[in-house]
Formats: sequence, C-alpha cells, structure tokens
Amino acid sequence: MLNNDRLSKLEIKKRLLEKLNTVSGNQAEQESQIMISYSANKKNYIDVNDSEIDNELINKILNERIKGKPLAKIINEKGFWKNIFYTDDYTLDPRADSEILVEQILNDCLQIKNKNKFNFLDLCCGTGCLGISIIDELENSFCDFIDVSKKALSACKKNIIKFEKQKNSMLFHSNLFENYPINRLKNIDVIVCNPPYIPTINYLSLNNETLYDPRISLDGGELGIDYYIKIIDYLINVKFKGSLYFEIDPIITENMYKYLLEKGIKIVYKKVDYLSLDRLIKITLPNTN
Ligand SMILES: C[S@@+](CC[C@H](N)C(=O)[O-])C[C@H]1O[C@@H](n2cnc3c(N)ncnc32)[C@H](O)[C@@H]1O
Repeated sequence: MLNNDRLSKLEIKKRLLEKLNTVSGNQAEQESQIMISYSANKKNYIDVNDSEIDNELINKILNERIKGKPLAKIINEKGFWKNIFYTDDYTLDPRADSEILVEQILNDCLQIKNKNKFNFLDLCCGTGCLGISIIDELENSFCDFIDVSKKALSACKKNIIKFEKQKNSMLFHSNLFENYPINRLKNIDVIVCNPPYIPTINYLSLNNETLYDPRISLDGGELGIDYYIKIIDYLINVKFKGSLYFEIDPIITENMYKYLLEKGIKIVYKKVDYLSLDRLIKITLPNTN
C-alpha cells in the first residue's frame, strides 16, 4: 500500500503493478494508470502531475480491487471508444469488444453520401455506450435508447447528460419493443443491439468478476439466442426496413447462424474482434426488398 510520502507517478505505478499483477493479470498496467488518473481527476494518465495524485484514494480503490471487485465497479467509470462512461451495479460495464459495432456503423454511415441525418435505436442500451459513441461522431444524428431496467436507463441518462446529448436522445423504458411507439421505427435507419447472450448453463459458471454485472445483462436463455429471436421476429412482423447490427459471440454463433438460415435472413457481413473472434453481424430482414 502507499504511505503518505510524496511519491512520483512512476514509483506509484510500479508499486501498484506489484499489487495488481495477480488480480488483474494482463490488465494490470492499464488498471494502474486508470487508478492514478482517476485519483488525480484527470482523463488521461499522461496528463497527471505527481502532486495531483491522491494516495489515500488509491489505497481505498486498491483494497477493493484486491478483493476481486472489477475496477469499473469500484470507480463507477469505464473507458469506451473515445469517452469515459458512468457505470454502476445495474449496468454491464462497457467492453472493448463492443467498440467494433461503433466502428463498423460509423464506417457504413460515412459512406452513404447525400444523407446527413441518421436515426439510430440502441436496443438493450445499458450505459448507452454504443448509441452515445455513435451520435457523438455523427453530426445531426439522433438516438432512441431502450432498456427494460429502470436503473440501467438512469445510468444511460447520466451519460447522455455527461456528454451533452440531450437534444439528440430519447429514453424508453421497455421490455424490448413492448412500450416503444411503433411509428418511431419507420424513421429508424439503424438498430444497434448488444443483447444478453450467455447461455444460462454458461452463465452459472462465469468467473467471479463477470458476475458483478447484473444477470439481466448477461443471461440469454437456454441457447443464448432468446433475445435475438424475439427481436428479429418482431422486426420481421412490423416490416422494419433498416439495418440491424448485433453483437455476437462464438459461444452462440452455431445456433444463431442456424436460426438465421431457417428464417431466410441475409447476413450482410460478419466481423471479428481484435482476438479474431466473431463479434458482429449486420443483417437485413427478408421482407424489406
Ligand atoms: C449485454 S448488456 C448491453 C449493454 C450495452 N448496450 C453495452 O453494449 O455495453 C444488455 C442490456 O440489455 C438489457 N435488457 C435485458 N433484457 C431486456 C429486455 N427484455 N428489454 C430491453 N432491455 C433488456 C439489460 O438491462 C442490459 O442493460
């Protein structure tokens, strides 16, 4: 632990790394930098001066981290895309894996000429990290956010206020599309969705750190594809004409691709994440042509 002595940033980092190596593994370096910048109330480690570091706060954080609580759940913050998002016990902490959805949607939208206004729907929004990151990059865009958890929606609202996106956002408390006005769907160009997708049997044996995220954000039913099926069936029924970008995971791809084939749904493309694992599918629905 750190004492009251004034230590340099590098010395503090070195001491933190020694403590974090066992609990944080290959994240130890990144986590030590986050702890230091958080204690100094700075966005980036590089901008922190030695005199700004709060040793007492770092000790408190380290104490909890050593007991196994994820860093994001201790400091209620997680970096995603270009911002630091508020997160808490009621939301899934944003994952770097999901950034590929933002990247791909931005790539596709920026290629569409003659269209400068996009309407998105961030379905199962949690912290809102996907929708907010997208509208932050696209001028004149608008995003509807849906979540069934009121507490997750309130975290999303905090982030919308933090990044000053109130004029470009609307929140809906809804079990999927149940309370979402159907007429709004007509104007939606893109749905982005990272639904709960861990098969229940796998959920029950998840590692301790993942279990700090709420079950409602992870458990995707017996095969992990319950949410995809409900969402796609609904959208086919209402003849949704836009594009759908889903986060996926190798744990569900076999069942997912089988289901899409049976339904005659075209996969526009798949993308892998930085570990070369299937992470995203873009689909269009059969009735839209
Ligand atoms: C995997 S998390 C994704 C959160 C965020 N979009 C992200 O990528 O970090 C899934 C989210 O779906 C929400 N959810 C679960 N069941 C839902 C339902 N029936 N309708 C709407 N949202 C739901 C959970 O509350 C959780 O916030």
